[in-house]
Amino acid sequence: TKRVGILTSGGDCPGLNATIRGAAKALYERFGADVEIVGVRDGYSGLITGDWHEMKQSDFSGILTQGGTILGTKRTPFKMMQVIEDDQVDKVAEMKKTYKKAKLDCLLCLGGNGTHKTANLLAEEGLNIIGLPKTIDNDIWGTDVTFGFHTAVDIATEVIDRIHTTASSHRRVMVIELMGNKAGWLTLYSGIAGGADIILIPELPYDMDKVIKAIEKRNANGRTFSILAVAEGAYDVAEAKMKKKERAAARAAAGVKTATNRIAADIERITGFETRVCVPGHMQRGGTPSAYDRVLATQFGAYAAKLVAEDRYGVAVAMVNSVVTDNPLAEIAGKSKLVPADCPMLDLARSMGVSLG
Ligand code: F6P
Repeated sequence: TKRVGILTSGGDCPGLNATIRGAAKALYERFGADVEIVGVRDGYSGLITGDWHEMKQSDFSGILTQGGTILGTKRTPFKMMQVIEDDQVDKVAEMKKTYKKAKLDCLLCLGGNGTHKTANLLAEEGLNIIGLPKTIDNDIWGTDVTFGFHTAVDIATEVIDRIHTTASSHRRVMVIELMGNKAGWLTLYSGIAGGADIILIPELPYDMDKVIKAIEKRNANGRTFSILAVAEGAYDVAEAKMKKKERAAARAAAGVKTATNRIAADIERITGFETRVCVPGHMQRGGTPSAYDRVLATQFGAYAAKLVAEDRYGVAVAMVNSVVTDNPLAEIAGKSKLVPADCPMLDLARSMGVSLG
């Protein structure tokens, strides 16, 4: 009998439940009565405290379409894993203890970059670990796409579509702040899909003069409104030279918290155009996964079951050139996939006359 543990860690996103279901269904198909699935609550936190439970086949029914995660999730910073903190708990030792106590043969870890870092740490400690790439940010190294990303793109695109009506009716400049952490994938894709006029991402520090010029050019061409899709991690050329702390201090001194607020204030001051900010925030992570993400999640889950059947561990599932495959955890841990300068999507945006700042 195989005992397979599953946990979900980091920020939630659409497709977590679909992936859990995909893995469980494929495991039951392969092993029949010879598989037992153990759910670990709240990510690595449950592994540390020993919060796990036996799951039944019926637990995986009806969850394909559900957002969030039936297992709960938590952000547990990687540095917390390695050091014995004030509570004097050796987290790695506790996680190994739980793995042993639950009599696991392997553990599926669904999560983003932080999750994969800890997954690699556990693999190095001798546990049988498989990572599954989840995040709306699409910033996991070694995979073309992560589940959750395309649903978030769909949601962000709908936001941009809806904002268009206010922008055009009121002749306003609308600045939409989109998630993505340090990566611009979500903003770039939804910006193109929603027909944004200006797209600003962290990988290309913007020049405010160029942003203003792009708005004024649109106005001169008779377009009375403009839509900016701005990644939450975006910064300007001057800020690009600063360290994270210096940047935060500079923004605080200017009385703005985010790049989006600064951009909107500058536009209004310099152009005189009425400007508003829209922050869809966690809506981008909520609700049912899109059909694309359901298929991707099912593919990833089924592939994880195949890895279990082959007793192949220490790897993370990935999609490379439309083929589901895997990468060694050690190879991807600690890396992050940003939008490269030669990304064809950047050229596509430029060819549509979109200003990238
Ligand atoms: O990693 C997913 C993400 O939604 C990022 O896009 C965002 O920066 C971050 O999580 C927000 O984190 P939290 O939900 O902890 O505020």
